Amino acid sequence: MAKELRSRGWFGKKGKDGFIYRAWMKNQGIPDFEFQGRPVIGICNTWSELTPCNAHFKELAESVKRGILQAGGFPVEFPVMSLGETLIKPTAMLYRNLASMDVEESIRANPVDGVVLLCGCDKTTPALVMGACSVDIPAIVVSGGPMLTGSYKGTPIGTSDVWRFNDALRSGAMSEEQLAEAEASMCRSRGHCAVMGTASSMACMVEALGLTLSGNAAIPAADSRRKVLAQFSGMRIVEMVKEDLKPSDILTRKAFENAIKINAAVGGSTNFVIHLLAIAGRVGVDLSLEDFDTHSQGVPLLANIQPSGTGFMEDLFYAGGLPAVIKELLPKIHKDAITVTGKSMEENVSIAENYNTEVIASLEKPVNPVSGIIVLKGNLCEAGCIIKPSAASPHLMKHKGKAVVFETIEDYKARIDDPNLEVDENSVLVLKHVGPKGYPGMPEVGNMALPKKLLAQGVKDMVRISDGRMSGTGFGTVILHASPEAAEGGNFAVVQDGDLIELDVDARSLILHVSDEILAERKKTWQSKAVNPGRGYVGLYVRTVEQAHLGCDLDFLKGKSGSEVTRDSH
Ligand code: FES
Repeated sequence: MAKELRSRGWFGKKGKDGFIYRAWMKNQGIPDFEFQGRPVIGICNTWSELTPCNAHFKELAESVKRGILQAGGFPVEFPVMSLGETLIKPTAMLYRNLASMDVEESIRANPVDGVVLLCGCDKTTPALVMGACSVDIPAIVVSGGPMLTGSYKGTPIGTSDVWRFNDALRSGAMSEEQLAEAEASMCRSRGHCAVMGTASSMACMVEALGLTLSGNAAIPAADSRRKVLAQFSGMRIVEMVKEDLKPSDILTRKAFENAIKINAAVGGSTNFVIHLLAIAGRVGVDLSLEDFDTHSQGVPLLANIQPSGTGFMEDLFYAGGLPAVIKELLPKIHKDAITVTGKSMEENVSIAENYNTEVIASLEKPVNPVSGIIVLKGNLCEAGCIIKPSAASPHLMKHKGKAVVFETIEDYKARIDDPNLEVDENSVLVLKHVGPKGYPGMPEVGNMALPKKLLAQGVKDMVRISDGRMSGTGFGTVILHASPEAAEGGNFAVVQDGDLIELDVDARSLILHVSDEILAERKKTWQSKAVNPGRGYVGLYVRTVEQAHLGCDLDFLKGKSGSEVTRDSH
């Protein structure tokens, strides 16, 4: 017998209680046969004009609604906190967990039987998935899609070029006027960043986890097929409610291992690590930082997309999209992992084709044999830190150099271009107090710009270490997410100028050549440079946020509370 619809607990009630639930739906001009006995599908919308990447979501929601109605469901759209990566200060990551709470409570508190999650700009995807997982009713993700490729003076450009433009401006190779022209040429359509930055990595992640229809990740936002996918997703969620196919049925350990492998194959963002750990924490899958290294191994870079390659998301779509990448990767993934279609990953990609081997390479002839995330351990960050080898310089993967330490981001900004700064191309730049608690919010400053005087000498890359994050569009030999972070007072907190640091990526090690005795002595007088978070959400965040190697969720949000609401005030 089919499970009774959850929404019956509202609209199916007799007497005064049911009267109140139904009557106020009717004030929208909706006859009760529309929501009585039909699957009520929430459309969780992160539309906002302050989140430019998601500004087209009202239109996308209309396509989802068409699908829901066609399949016999009843759509109800609701807003949740939106996080625009480019506008939110101090960093959108500070609010990912807050948005996830909004999503979780909005879904649980309302009469919805299933939910469509409209995700786009970086944090909106993990926030919505985390919240939905903690309720665990049938859910499907529809991504907003990437922008069309930008074009500057005839050259294709995307968000990764912002870092190159910045270096060119700082070294004098580019004028302010040229920068303004590039600025106008880059974001030329609706959608999120057009490279394999965090938003595209998140769109690939949800497809790899099995939470979207096949092909979701790469269809450009401006392509009419994005709306078609949204409509089909609306149709499918109604069926998922009837089948009672929930996130916990899909998000098994196999799904997470697939996501790690597919992220490696597309050269996905380092932010993927933190978000996937947080999602695993909500569904109760025991995922560790080491899993990212273990399951990335042996997976080469197949997608030739910036920042690890040369192309753009639009190219990936024309080449066959993520399904073509997954099909090539089938020998290495769990083919039988179940997805929102009710079918396996292998069945989903069976008709995929690769139309351009310059964009989607083969396992035999990959874009780069090295990819994925490498986890480094050692006395500098005892709980681990990460590096993305496909974005790093091969000649720096084994490197020994003296630390040039910046205690805070303000310290870095004040001194990095000082002509008297004692730094050369062999130095290791260390940036502290940009971790989850130290900043707070863990901003994307880990790929700190190089000193102007070294850029002028033609230096293109240096080893950089921080407890912060890096934009998914960033690149360089950048070691991130040092854990425990400086604000926790571990060894990373007491690194000093001139200390010798040794990186050996092959050996997975990051060693601070300072004795335990000296480190212990330094800790006696160490003082945190973290700002006082004060009251409100930021205070709560700093008191309860977990370290990067655990996914930066708030400790009390881990796990799920389910969909049941046991008390009823009506
Ligand atoms: Fe929204 Fe890049 S700023 S995806």
